[in-house]
Amino acid sequence: MGRSAIVTGSDPGIGQATQLPVVLLSHRGPVSFGRDEQGRRTASRGAGGLVTALTGLISDLPDAVWVCAASSEEDAAVAADRDGGAVEVALEPEPRLLDEDGAGDGQDGPGVRLRLVEVDQQAHDDFYTVIANPLLWFLQHGMYGLALAPVLTKREHAAWNDGYVAVNRLFADAVVSEVQARGGRALVMLHDYHFYLVARQVREQCPGAVLSFFLHIPWPGPDAWRVLPPAWREAVLNGLLGNDVVAFHTEGFARNFLLTCQELLGLPVDLEAMTVRVGDREVAARHYPISIDVEAMRALAASPEVAEHAGQLREVYGGEERQLILRVDRTDPSKNIVRGFEAFATLLEDHPELVGRVSFLALLQPSRQDVPEYADYLAEIGAIVARVNAAHAGEGHEPIDLRLVEDQALAVAAYTVCDVLMVNALADGMNLVAKEAVVVNTRESVLALSENTGAHQELGPFAVTLHPFDVQQQADALHEALTMGRDLRRARREAAARVVEENDIAKWLTAQLTDLGVTPGDDQRS
Ligand code: ADP
Ligand code: F6P
Repeated sequence: MGRSAIVTGSDPGIGQATQLPVVLLSHRGPVSFGRDEQGRRTASRGAGGLVTALTGLISDLPDAVWVCAASSEEDAAVAADRDGGAVEVALEPEPRLLDEDGAGDGQDGPGVRLRLVEVDQQAHDDFYTVIANPLLWFLQHGMYGLALAPVLTKREHAAWNDGYVAVNRLFADAVVSEVQARGGRALVMLHDYHFYLVARQVREQCPGAVLSFFLHIPWPGPDAWRVLPPAWREAVLNGLLGNDVVAFHTEGFARNFLLTCQELLGLPVDLEAMTVRVGDREVAARHYPISIDVEAMRALAASPEVAEHAGQLREVYGGEERQLILRVDRTDPSKNIVRGFEAFATLLEDHPELVGRVSFLALLQPSRQDVPEYADYLAEIGAIVARVNAAHAGEGHEPIDLRLVEDQALAVAAYTVCDVLMVNALADGMNLVAKEAVVVNTRESVLALSENTGAHQELGPFAVTLHPFDVQQQADALHEALTMGRDLRRARREAAARVVEENDIAKWLTAQLTDLGVTPGDDQRS
């Protein structure tokens, strides 16, 4: 399908129907380059739900460019080879540089233009490891106890100015140059908490641009933001108010945003219309639950690579008597992995008959290891797994199979063969793992899903709900999931899959374009 952005006459700032190119910004890009042992260039997929969601969409948008950070030395080298200009890549079936050796090999999906922005190492550390993660991430996921953390010292103040503010300026400059290269008129789609300050600058320099922002993580109520110094939180809000639309996964997050503008900036908000007035403009707060490309996920599940992994998993965990609990996550403290293993240990203590029959496979991608809180959390994960396995190992088996890997084919294979998928996040904007698993599972698995995920609003009725701080409740819920009758499991999984099929990633994009006065249509240039 060729999808282009056509602005209709209903958009006040744009006038007549016009095609708009898309300039998309996120910190993590869809592909990162490296070198293998032979010195050959490699390309791998970027981490996390944002990349999962956007990868399939961007190729459909003509004249689109994805601006993102150069996250490796090789990314920087690729960008430098093109004097900082965009590179052409194919994202599917595997990520690959297209303009390196002339034409593709015919196997590549449609190309995407990627602008890799190189960031000074010190500025990036300040931006990423001091401000974005942990400070904003922890604040927005409600992870600070506040008695002892966070502590904002000279170090954090310097990191705000020389890191977060400076890096936002750098990326705003890159977005501005891409918009200007398109005649000053573009749909600018900004993503996530790394870039709260960008819209304001882009609006000043490109008044012809339509600006939208999508947040992939929770937005808490006004009081949570008081942890930040007034100048910082006001900069965050004023930056976001440079957009035409600020969008979230859930209505609750959108409402929290408006209440934050009202309480911390004293701006008039309309909670019926879901708008905030900023001078002579109205900024809309909207919610669009993000999703997955169901067809692509099912095609991957049907691939030989996934089938091979699934066969291996069945050899280890298959059999009528055996059951498999699965989790697939970044090793992020917000994912609540340690309490999940504690709940599993409680399950085995309360139901010793399950020892040796039920295993827990955890496919965990080490995440943000340059942030001390994340490195500590990974160590905690290793420690609890060692404790549970020491306490409950039987002859020839360990109850928890912990694999620190990033392997999409293995993860999808595990979705197909598991009996229970555990998602017990403390707080999660959406959680795409839950959506992925229900559309490809073949064993009528049960979704055990935290009530604090965005996904729970759509899939909660078909899941066993987990209360993320209550380890006993999680153990009981796992038992309920493992002992649920097959008919009920099948009915629930099918219903959950239907919800995901009907609300897929294409619908997420279309809803936003429609609200912006931008409707998808045929690309007249193709
Ligand atoms: P987040 O955006 O916080 O990382 P989501 O659940 O929304 O959380 O998205 C995570 C994405 O990363 C999913 O597409 C999931 O399949 C993928 N993923 C997570 N862990 C792994 C892993 N260990 N190996 C491969 N893919 C993973
Ligand atoms: O989806 C939430 C998110 O924070 C994305 O913004 C991010 O790209 C992803 O998780 C993975 O995190 P990181 O890019 O820090 O590895």
